[in-house]
Amino acid sequence: MKILENISLKPYNTFGIDAKAKRFASFSNIDELAELLADTQAGKKSDHFVLGGGSNILFTKDFDGTVLKNELKGIELVHEDEHYLFVKAAAGETWHQFVLHCIEHNYAGLENLSLIPGNVGASPMQNIGAYGVEIKDVFHSLEAYHIKDKKIIQFTHNDCEFGYRESVFKRKYKNQFVILDVTFRLSKHPVFHTSYGAIQQEIDAMGVKELSIKAISDAVIRIRQSKLPDPAEIGNAGSFFKNPQISKSKFNSLKEKFPGIVGFELPGGDVKLAAAWLIEQCGWKGFRDGDAGVHTKQALVLVNYKNASGNEIFHISEKVIASVKEKFDIDLEREVNII
Ligand code: FAD
Ligand code: EPU
Repeated sequence: MKILENISLKPYNTFGIDAKAKRFASFSNIDELAELLADTQAGKKSDHFVLGGGSNILFTKDFDGTVLKNELKGIELVHEDEHYLFVKAAAGETWHQFVLHCIEHNYAGLENLSLIPGNVGASPMQNIGAYGVEIKDVFHSLEAYHIKDKKIIQFTHNDCEFGYRESVFKRKYKNQFVILDVTFRLSKHPVFHTSYGAIQQEIDAMGVKELSIKAISDAVIRIRQSKLPDPAEIGNAGSFFKNPQISKSKFNSLKEKFPGIVGFELPGGDVKLAAAWLIEQCGWKGFRDGDAGVHTKQALVLVNYKNASGNEIFHISEKVIASVKEKFDIDLEREVNII
């Protein structure tokens, strides 16, 4: 186990921000993790940060502590019954590779979540979601290491308190646990989710004769590639803000003033607004200041064209928040973790 010092984090975050870590180490088993944590915790010598694929973080300064890069690997079918397959994936597995593994083995449930960057371990953090599915729909349980008590704790679905881009790990247990593995309850009998967005249209355009989880995955991949910037080409962390949820009455009064406003009614009656529409209406889409900007095709995505600093990106996010507040009286909340 090697501890590196003063290394650039640029290759380790999809925004491509050139922040430095005072110390950096990878762990590929629990003993290594425990040893590294014991070392960082000793006398509160320094802080630590658990890093997955770095696709939902923005470094606004150097990290004055130890970055712990998760390299836990392994995928295992732990149990099956007549209807379901319980598949456990280690936290350091790449999310999309895991999704492809499940599709290849005909385990249904994750296909709509194809091509989301990052690792399995971060997926419950913000209950990742896309194209009508969130991981809470297929989540069974997870194991996490409690940093202070040095114990492995099992979390059930209820324990995680999943919400839209939310879980206990982002709120009350923030920085207290390292997620080690996640078990998903996947299905032997697929239920196809094609009603969201342009999935059905894409499947038709692909000339698919018989619907399958592979066809849905392919369609989702094509849609995502047409809309979202590839971090290998333009630095970004996906949606920078959450889509705001407001009451139906507030939505109706906004609709009178802004008839084009985009919102989707939620089961409880509230309305989820498309933040991208609000941001675009404020004139931000395609905005660029130096190397920091707002994506030309998706106003919800802030980008680093090459050498922007985390602070330059953060500064744009503040201006976006202020203008959406002024024009619509809506508070945008950041989805990306600011470090
Ligand atoms: P990181 O960025 O490394 O970490 C995120 C947070 O989780 C940090 O606070 C970190 O400390 C913590 N963390 C990571 N691993 C662990 C662990 N094992 N234990 C404890 N804490 C941990 N998200 C969606 O929900 N839907 C999308 O459609 C989507 N599309 C995206 C598209 C693009 C192009 C990009 C760049 C991002 C997108 N995202 C999307 C956001 C991102 O992919 C997800 O949030 C992903 O789950 C982050 O995983 P990661 O491993 O990169 O996490
Ligand atoms: N729109 C605009 N301008 C734009 C882009 C979109 O007005 O520049 C409007 C359009 O009306 C469009 C609507 O916004 O119909 C929704 O856009 P899109 O389908 O691209 O989805 P989104 O709401 O912007 C959310 C998630 C994404 C997820 C997609 C697909 C959040 C914060 N974002 O984006 O997740 O992939 O839906 O399900 O919920 C992420 O979390 O990082 C992420 C990319």
